[in-house]
Amino acid sequence: MDFSPEVFLNHLAQTTDSPYQIAVERAEGIYLYSPDGKRYTDLISGIGVSNIGHRHPKVIQAIKDQLDKHLHVMVYGEYIQSAPNLLAKKITGLLPKSLSCCYFVNSGTEANEGALKLAKRYTGRTEIVSFRKSYHGSTHGSLSVSGNEVKKRAFRPLLPDIRFIDFNVAPDLEQITPGTACVIMETIQGDAGVRIPSVSYMKALRDRCTKTGALLILDEIQCGMGRTGTLFSFEQFGIVPDILTVAKAFGGGLPLGAFIADRQIMKSLTHDPMLGHITTFGGNPVCCAAALATLQVIEEENLLATVEEKGKLFETLLTHPRIKAIRRIGLLFALDFESAEMVGRIVEEGKKLGIICYWFLSHPNSFRIAPPLTITHEQIKESCAAILQAIDNA
Ligand SMILES: Cc1ncc(COP(=O)(O)O)c(C=O)c1O
Repeated sequence: MDFSPEVFLNHLAQTTDSPYQIAVERAEGIYLYSPDGKRYTDLISGIGVSNIGHRHPKVIQAIKDQLDKHLHVMVYGEYIQSAPNLLAKKITGLLPKSLSCCYFVNSGTEANEGALKLAKRYTGRTEIVSFRKSYHGSTHGSLSVSGNEVKKRAFRPLLPDIRFIDFNVAPDLEQITPGTACVIMETIQGDAGVRIPSVSYMKALRDRCTKTGALLILDEIQCGMGRTGTLFSFEQFGIVPDILTVAKAFGGGLPLGAFIADRQIMKSLTHDPMLGHITTFGGNPVCCAAALATLQVIEEENLLATVEEKGKLFETLLTHPRIKAIRRIGLLFALDFESAEMVGRIVEEGKKLGIICYWFLSHPNSFRIAPPLTITHEQIKESCAAILQAIDNA
């Protein structure tokens, strides 16, 4: 084994000057363990991934079973393989009827790339409407429709023909027109610090898209897979997107994403040009097996029914004069503090106390809590005591 910071810092590309640098030897449930034996409570689920905890035994078993059959055998879309078949049947069975056809990919950003391409190809239109403060991924297309200008400036030129509107502001919906190919939106804006739209706004958005023929893409890469108390957040707004994108927790700890749409819409990727989206590893059978097991665990353990009460317990326990505001839906929280520096200090103090909290990409004076949905009431009480201690220490 090699947990050397020297190798990590010099031979692995760095994305910041101050990486978190916890050494992780193993992980189980809501805990990560360092080689020195220190235990950390993962209150961010590896940023929205470990919704059923780390190394759930049923996921591990499903991975092992698939390893004994086959790994990669062919690029996406050519051979009939059982694992993606079973997953597609399962997930489309849990979704509204119009979301009947899955394209499996490798990541969240690729799911959004595929969705944007599908919308342009299907509608024959070019304009994309997105939202200020949104985050959809880090490749050129997803970055183009993300709202944070600071993250984009150095990489221009990006995709043309993108119009940004304000999230949850009904008059802005007029800017969706018959020239619009699609509207891409996080159902709950995650990295903007957990921003939750109103039901009436979401219905108006759906109506406007239907009226203009623009496809509605809902990005549930962060807020899906039970995080907000329903399998997907859009269910709470009484609307159905034309294209749904998922990733992160979808793969149960392995890399898997998907864009999901009506079969008739999806068919447009087969011609003019054929192979309208291509991916070598998309729908990797081991990842699909893990994803199927994850969906089964969410059902069998009745996790969705517990999300709201656990969220409320966190909220009642987290009272402290330094917490300026809490935004919460299900088990996704943003806690606002007076400054980004204060958040940085709390995150550091939390680390010393063995809890992992984190900041948001585009909302630095908040910190995020998004624990595994499997967290118990006892673990919530212990975690909240440690968070309050970290705030005091900061
Ligand atoms: C809402 C949302 N969309 C897309 C992405 C990009 O996913 P990935 O990092 O798997 O490319 C993220 C990642 O944080 C996200 O939160």
